[in-house]
Amino acid sequence: MEIDTVDPKYDALSVDGHTSLKNVPLLDESISRSAPIVDHKDILPTGKYIKAFQGHLLKLLQEIRLFVKHSNKGKIAIVGCGLIGKSWAMLFASAGYNVMIYDKDSAASSDALVTIKDELNKLENSQLLRGTLTAEQQHSLISRTEDLETCVKGALHVQESVPECEEMKKIIFNKLDSLATDGMTLCSSTSCIMPSTFSENLKHRAQVLVAHPANPPYYVPIVEIVQSTWTSPDIVSRTIELMKEIGQKPVTVKKEIYGFGINRMQYAIINECWRLVSDGVMSVEDIDAVMSEGLGMRYAFLGPFETCQLNADGMADYCRRYANGIFNVSETFGPVPKMEDKAGSTKITISAENLDVPGTFLTNANFQALPVAVKVFQKIEVNRQRVPLYGRVGKIPDRREQD
Ligand SMILES: NC(=O)c1ccc[n+]([C@@H]2O[C@H](COP(=O)([O-])OP(=O)(O)OC[C@H]3O[C@@H](n4cnc5c(N)ncnc54)[C@H](O)[C@@H]3O)[C@@H](O)[C@H]2O)c1
Repeated sequence: MEIDTVDPKYDALSVDGHTSLKNVPLLDESISRSAPIVDHKDILPTGKYIKAFQGHLLKLLQEIRLFVKHSNKGKIAIVGCGLIGKSWAMLFASAGYNVMIYDKDSAASSDALVTIKDELNKLENSQLLRGTLTAEQQHSLISRTEDLETCVKGALHVQESVPECEEMKKIIFNKLDSLATDGMTLCSSTSCIMPSTFSENLKHRAQVLVAHPANPPYYVPIVEIVQSTWTSPDIVSRTIELMKEIGQKPVTVKKEIYGFGINRMQYAIINECWRLVSDGVMSVEDIDAVMSEGLGMRYAFLGPFETCQLNADGMADYCRRYANGIFNVSETFGPVPKMEDKAGSTKITISAENLDVPGTFLTNANFQALPVAVKVFQKIEVNRQRVPLYGRVGKIPDRREQD
């Protein structure tokens, strides 16, 4: 009886071309081929076990190599660890950045580490984890501090995510300005506040801009990049590249405007939905169905201009057919509704109570469908090639002027 020997062709320890142990016998063949002293079943390790061990070692080496490669990338500072701060921390760690989180409420940052660990494990188990590192490795890249200066020190990029309040943004950016070094990006997650509002008088104002994500950023890749007139072009392009690197889809808001692009589009929809319900035209349930079973389904794949293009024989034809109708309907929209609930004001149009759905944004059962949809998109590799547009906004023929 012979002791198992390792297949000499076994190439499992070849790691990135650097450490090839191909053909290196793990047992001295002269020993292994010599007459056995005892039955191979009685001794450990046999070649079979060594082979298994070799496989594990390979996996470990590969993980260490990936981890070392990624974790040398540099530091990202997260200031404010609420819903958005936590999401940013996960996104940056998924790309291998060292992330340090800070919150003025120390319980918020320690809770954040626990929640993030839990989330990363869940994502890994459902095969939705981003990046090539394991959940454990990603979590190990995230640390916390109770000191803002320690958080910011040595960071390439600071992502501020404190509550949406102009005064708070001004205070925190003043502090960040005093701690920043030249070249450090000072980036806000604000949803609507223009960067010039909180950066005008700062020494490092050329380093300040906005990267506004959409909730939940882990599943929804869009990020609006908003600059003020004094933001350095280099800071803008670095932030765009960073967003691409972590798997987000940056779009540029070329001029400062209140609400940027995403929320201006979103609020136009919300305002009209509110009007239709408050004027008794449609029920809340039917309004939601129009989006979830209708417009939203096509907007998941196509933008509004692509939809116009495909709704007719190109954009010019769309304008010819529909521009008048769109203009006439739009003139009936009426004043901006004030969204206040019954208790709040006499200007009530609808009771917010009637709109309540169970759960919060992230715990609601319907919302849980989003990660599943993401998985389906990933699996079928939806062809997201854009529709070639005939006319861009500036070139769209104005039917009314022609008439
Ligand atoms: N929630 C969303 O849907 C969403 C989407 C995109 C962007 N944003 C924007 O992201 C920002 C954060 O929103 P959020 O929903 O995460 O808020 P949040 O209330 O969940 O979290 C804010 C966190 O900031 C902390 N904080 C307050 N003052 C601080 C300070 N001076 N220093 C450090 N930490 C401080 C709070 O303790 C809290 O943990 C806002 O500007 C918001 O408009 C939110």
